[in-house]
Amino acid sequence: MIKIPAYDPKPEYVLLKDEIDAAIQGVLDSGRFIMGPEVTRFEENVAAYLGVKHTVGLNSGTDAIVIGLQALGVGAGDEVITTAFSFFATAEAISHLDAVPIFVDIDPVTFNIDVSKIEDKITERTKAIIPVHLYGHAADMDVITDLAQRYGLWILEDVAQAFGGKWKGKKLGAIGEIGALSFFPTKNLGAYGDGGMLVTENDDYARMAKMLRTHGAQKKYYNQIVGYNTRLDALQAAILNVKLNYLDHSNTLRRKAAERYSQMLAGVDGVTIPREASGAYHVYHQFTLRIRDGKRDQVQAKLAERGIGSMVYYPVPMHRLPVYQDLGWQIPQAELAAAEVLSVPLWPLIDEETQREVVSALEEAVR
Ligand SMILES: Cc1ncc(COP(=O)(O)O)c(C=O)c1O
Repeated sequence: MIKIPAYDPKPEYVLLKDEIDAAIQGVLDSGRFIMGPEVTRFEENVAAYLGVKHTVGLNSGTDAIVIGLQALGVGAGDEVITTAFSFFATAEAISHLDAVPIFVDIDPVTFNIDVSKIEDKITERTKAIIPVHLYGHAADMDVITDLAQRYGLWILEDVAQAFGGKWKGKKLGAIGEIGALSFFPTKNLGAYGDGGMLVTENDDYARMAKMLRTHGAQKKYYNQIVGYNTRLDALQAAILNVKLNYLDHSNTLRRKAAERYSQMLAGVDGVTIPREASGAYHVYHQFTLRIRDGKRDQVQAKLAERGIGSMVYYPVPMHRLPVYQDLGWQIPQAELAAAEVLSVPLWPLIDEETQREVVSALEEAVR
């Protein structure tokens, strides 16, 4: 029996029910289910929020990365540098275009790409870098931007887990050439189904992305290239238009919940608490601990026995996934993180009492 889930979307819906129900009803009444005014309005709202010129609503964050890379001009045989420790979609998008993911180890504190290890991996075939702002924490965009400028590389930010997060005051997604957002339900801005968005300042990338989104056609039935069918759903856009107004507030609540966990967990043996690096504004998509001494799986099982959900993001680093394991890479910090990470229950409206229960179960489980 699950007593405390790893993520609970219900309290937010209860709070915003009237607004969300009205938004959904509005779409039903309008009969505009594909693209239409809610999608346009959401694209405009995100453009204003991030301070970017173009936003292209898509049906997932994965598609935002695929289409983003394609719009940049990444193709067969090109190398794209990224972290070894992310959700598979990041590397999958690269492989979809027959480009080659080049995996870099992570910084053990932030879990993000170790920027001191990128330069060694740059070759004449390198075209782009995809930093992933994992768990809501920014990658070091200063070093990445500097490398990209020196070597003439594109940056595509994978912001799936960090919408609303910042690096030195700059909103994530608006730093590289392209930002890829996901509105998967558990994300900081979560829809009630799939959704994603590509954001960019560049007119050409935006034009290409819009064309790819609708079967490679700028004008309906006059298809110019082979594209996709990957539009942001109108019902999801309507819901997201409501929720975007609360994104900053809900990220503040996530940060408060993270602060409470940090205080409650300080001094618990065998557990490493996540830290916010200087320059980052962490939006805690996840509150991810390290459970040291090889005890992670046993701790997770003990929490489950007490009805407490937790998640392992991710049990296998990307270079070790069956799809890539033949490469035979060894990437030590990513491998260690995969063995130690445990994300504990966190959502914006989680209350202190629930957190206390998680912490007391955790204290017992690590003993
Ligand atoms: C880091 C990262 N990149 C990409 C994605 C893909 O997003 P989506 O599920 O919207 O396709 C996700 C989320 O699922 C993710 O966590």
